Amino acid sequence: MNRRGKVVIASVLAIAALAAFTLAHAATKMPEQDLVINTTDVFKEKKKAPVNFSHPKHKALKCIDCHHEYKDGKNVWQEGQEVKKCGACHKFEAQDKIVKLEKAYHDQCINCHKKFKAEKKTTGPTACAKCHPPKPGEKPEKE
Ligand code: HEC
Ligand code: HEC
Ligand code: HEC
Ligand code: HEC
Repeated sequence: MNRRGKVVIASVLAIAALAAFTLAHAATKMPEQDLVINTTDVFKEKKKAPVNFSHPKHKALKCIDCHHEYKDGKNVWQEGQEVKKCGACHKFEAQDKIVKLEKAYHDQCINCHKKFKAEKKTTGPTACAKCHPPKPGEKPEKE
């Protein structure tokens, strides 16, 4: 290959690396906007409505209260790193120590809300309908 060819290839690679960096970086900041949690690739037939989640309302917590990636039993995920979907690891059914996705969400969200409530601190909802708004015609369940 001639010199010109090499320069062209080097430039293309540099641009691709910059693009990948920019994308990765953009994905690792805490989202300011509400997310809609609706994991339809794991829950093929959803029983409940999607759940809204606000990062800013949970700002007082640490990222690692919710985000993790385990290596030898330790959480090695650090702020700034890419965040995978919970459903990338937690599936419809439990696999070994990895609890199923529905339990993963309920254990994380509801247990913490209960803990704050027990400590008489401002907390989030524990009733089904507060997270899963009833679908039209559905009778809301209490707890
Ligand atoms: C603090 C919020 C919260 C509360 C309270 C809560 N859930 Fe959920 N639930 C979630 C989240 C988040 C998911 C994950 C949804 C997804 O990934 O699509 C979920 C998933 C589910 C799913 C599996 C997905 C589906 O729609 O089939 C079911 C069933 C469910 N919840 C039922 C309930 C019931 C019944 C209650 C009350 C006993 C309840 N949830 C209370 C947050 C909550
Ligand atoms: C109270 C729990 C909680 C806390 C605290 C939290 N997150 Fe999240 N975060 C979530 C949930 C739930 C999702 C959605 C996961 C999914 O869709 O599978 C999410 C998604 C994300 C995403 C992906 C957004 C997207 O659009 O795909 C990023 C990036 C992220 N969080 C960064 C952070 C950072 C940085 C912090 C700390 C400053 C943080 N989070 C704190 C629960 C939390
Ligand atoms: C990279 C894969 C991965 C991702 C992404 C992930 N988890 Fe996990 N999670 C695990 C593994 C592995 C364990 C088991 C850790 C152990 O006990 O050794 C676990 C454990 C848990 C537990 C503790 C199990 C229990 O109830 O005792 C909860 C709750 C949980 N995850 C919720 C979540 C939620 C909610 C999300 C998204 C915000 C999430 N996880 C994202 C891999 C993951
Ligand atoms: C580690 C603790 C913790 C976890 C995990 C957690 N929350 Fe919360 N949540 C809180 C606290 C504390 C508040 C009260 C914040 C405030 O108003 O100061 C709250 C508030 C809320 C509110 C009410 C905010 C509003 O709009 O008024 C909702 C809804 C909520 N959480 C949903 C969720 C969902 C869904 C999840 C799981 C994906 C989750 N939370 C996980 C601690 C937690």
